[in-house]
Amino acid sequence: MHHQPSKMLLLVGLLLCLTPAHALTTFPPKFQVGELDEDVVVKCNTAVPQVTWTLNGELEPMAELFAEGRTLTILGLDLPATGNYSCWAGSVLLDTTYVVVRSTPPAGKEEGMNISCQAESYSGSFRCSWRVPRFSVFRARLTRSNGSFGEWVHVAGRHGRFSASFTDPSFCPFAEELHPLQLHLEGLSDNSFLNFTIHFFIRDIVQPDPPQKLTVRQQGNQLYLAWAPPASWPLPKSYFALLYRLQYELPNGTQADKDLEGVEETSLPAGTRRVRISCRDPYASPTWSPWSAWQDVVAAQQRGPVAR
Ligand SMILES: *[C@@H]1O[C@H](CO)[C@@H](O)[C@H](O)[C@H]1NC(C)=O
Ligand SMILES: *[C@@H]1O[C@H](CO)[C@@H](O)[C@H](O)[C@H]1NC(C)=O
Ligand SMILES: *[C@@H]1O[C@H](CO)[C@@H](O)[C@H](O)[C@H]1NC(C)=O
Ligand SMILES: *[C@@H]1O[C@H](CO)[C@@H](O)[C@H](O)[C@H]1NC(C)=O
Ligand SMILES: *[C@@H]1O[C@H](CO)[C@@H](O)[C@H](O)[C@H]1NC(C)=O
Repeated sequence: MHHQPSKMLLLVGLLLCLTPAHALTTFPPKFQVGELDEDVVVKCNTAVPQVTWTLNGELEPMAELFAEGRTLTILGLDLPATGNYSCWAGSVLLDTTYVVVRSTPPAGKEEGMNISCQAESYSGSFRCSWRVPRFSVFRARLTRSNGSFGEWVHVAGRHGRFSASFTDPSFCPFAEELHPLQLHLEGLSDNSFLNFTIHFFIRDIVQPDPPQKLTVRQQGNQLYLAWAPPASWPLPKSYFALLYRLQYELPNGTQADKDLEGVEETSLPAGTRRVRISCRDPYASPTWSPWSAWQDVVAAQQRGPVAR
């Protein structure tokens, strides 16, 4: 019995030792991409004429490494030769370069990464997610609609899944988008580099938030419904129109839909059990917003028998 805790500690200790010493958790400030089996020259950024090198903290020189002055040549890059190259003057760290192999994208390239982007309106902000198994960190940079580069956005993954938000401050919601936005992504695993670019128009990735403030009022034999556009949807309404879809449940349990454009109220026959609403841009992306929560009509009824 008393042995259990120490066994546990031993196991934890083993697991810690097994994780690679150079596992990346952030994008290294300086990295170099080499081709498999080709030579890579790593330079130590220093004035010191003669330096020593470590790879992932190990001093032992490998046969395929050739050091001269401030440069180190990796002869025929392979996976064991990837990682954190640091140059030193004695015990003083001078510079660090992370060396990785360019990963040859499989046929279909970004298809496999399943990248998808969504914008909730025409504000120039959007969110993308993608997945690349075995990669641990990404950085992504937007080429804005006016042609300037955005800042690099650093993205740490969870189980090979990544997601990040971007904003194009030069995006004009009133102008027709003539050129697609460009998003460039670079990813690193412990020993490889991946690089791809996607192009898209904001108008093609817009998915509004659900409409808000859905209210139901019973009057005579009619139910009057009113709602408002999503708070994130831009104004004026005359320019940024919305198509609405009401879904409601009839007394006998069947569901029916009603589409409406450019209005924020309507009526339904009394007896309707519950309603919910969704919306989309009528002219651009055909993607509907998520549904609002179901709104029970019974609770809203002031009088009259509840249909069963
Ligand atoms: C590389 O090694 C140096 C020296 O040990 C360390 O300071 C640095 O954080 C390491 N970099 C990465 C990306 O692991
Ligand atoms: C890609 O993403 C879509 C939805 O975002 C999902 O349904 C599909 O299963 C994903 N495909 C792969 C290969 O992960
Ligand atoms: C593009 O837009 C950004 C952000 O609004 C601005 O900082 C930059 O100066 C603009 N560049 C050009 C070339 O217009
Ligand atoms: C990323 O890809 C582009 C084009 O595919 C290329 O021009 C660029 O040099 C690549 N970046 C790196 C760091 O290899
Ligand atoms: C439910 O009621 C609607 C309208 O009253 C009717 O059109 C529909 O056929 C009914 N469905 C069932 C399954 O009874």
